[in-house]
Amino acid sequence: MLVLGIESSCDETGVALYDTERGLLAHHLHTQMAMHAEYGGVVPELASRDHIRRLVPLTEGCLQEAGVGYGDIDAVAFTQGPGLGGALLAGSSYANALAFALDKPVIPVHHLEGHLLSPLLADDKPEFPFVALLVSGGHTQFMAVRGIGDYTLLGESVDDAAGEAFDKTAKLLGLPYPGGAKLSELARLGRADAFQFPRPMLHSHDLQMSFSGLKTAVLTAVEKVRAESGGNEIPEQTRNDICRAFQDAVADVLVAKSKKALLDTGFRTLVVAGGVGANWKLRDEFSRLTVQRPSANKKQSHPEEAVKVYFPPLAYCTDNGAMIAFAGAMRLHNRQEAGAFNVKPRWPLADIVQQG
Ligand code: KG4
Ligand code: ZN
Repeated sequence: MLVLGIESSCDETGVALYDTERGLLAHHLHTQMAMHAEYGGVVPELASRDHIRRLVPLTEGCLQEAGVGYGDIDAVAFTQGPGLGGALLAGSSYANALAFALDKPVIPVHHLEGHLLSPLLADDKPEFPFVALLVSGGHTQFMAVRGIGDYTLLGESVDDAAGEAFDKTAKLLGLPYPGGAKLSELARLGRADAFQFPRPMLHSHDLQMSFSGLKTAVLTAVEKVRAESGGNEIPEQTRNDICRAFQDAVADVLVAKSKKALLDTGFRTLVVAGGVGANWKLRDEFSRLTVQRPSANKKQSHPEEAVKVYFPPLAYCTDNGAMIAFAGAMRLHNRQEAGAFNVKPRWPLADIVQQG
């Protein structure tokens, strides 16, 4: 079965072709980053209009690369939500119109399910069950994943998502939009312990997280630096030190909470997905992740147990069509859900229930 996947939830237009026998045949992407950079953030109306312009050429590029035609497509999957209403509608209208013209089924896909399943696109795939840490610009969530469509929300950020905190912190340090990746590169040049920022909710005994206070702590530090230097400029080394301290604090919280999620569920595998999963510090920390499970015999010492951690290949970390084509193919395989023209800009992932 050949599935065409369409992603248009925010500022990336992604189109891909996934074949259930042969795997991913093609994936093409257009990022609107340069267009929105001028405004310092995503302008929803511009995003929608640009998606409309890109969808057909991206699809044709994929068909050409895969050496197939429109008539070979068996189903069209698209991101139904969550995301920007107008941007989602561009993808939904296109997917539904194309599927209607081809007389093929249309498969609505939850954007976060796309992220969550994206590590399964790699050669070395995680096996169910696993804990998924979804870290994107809009969400920071822990999910217990027992199979396709079987997701339980374990905990999430109560305010800003981790990616949002990266972007807002980058902005207040004067870095261009979207600053998350740039901040993380500058963090490489920062010195350890030059600044100390809080680890919010680190000891909250649950899997809730909060990142907005961390951003405020950075703001306070920046204002102090500016006042002390008597100017508006933040010295380069100081800025890099702040980047490092910020990134260290986020990583510490995500690592500690991931360990707790693994202990709470008893699962032995962790999957990290979403844009922030491209972060080098997180990848580094998670590659050495261990947990210490309580043993039945209280007198025995508890050995540290290595955890298998999976990241999607870098190209499928941030928004892309491949993850939507893949999630669509998995849903088609399980014979789930009929198509729908509507979009769901706000749509909790835990609302997806397993059917059939
Ligand atoms: O998953 P994604 O592409 O879009 C959403 O669904 O939100 O995630 C985008 C987020 C942005 O906040 C961006 O700053 C962040 O991922 N991001 C990073 C890095 N690359 C992208 N954050 C930290 N370090 C990175 N290397
Ligand atoms: Zn995303």
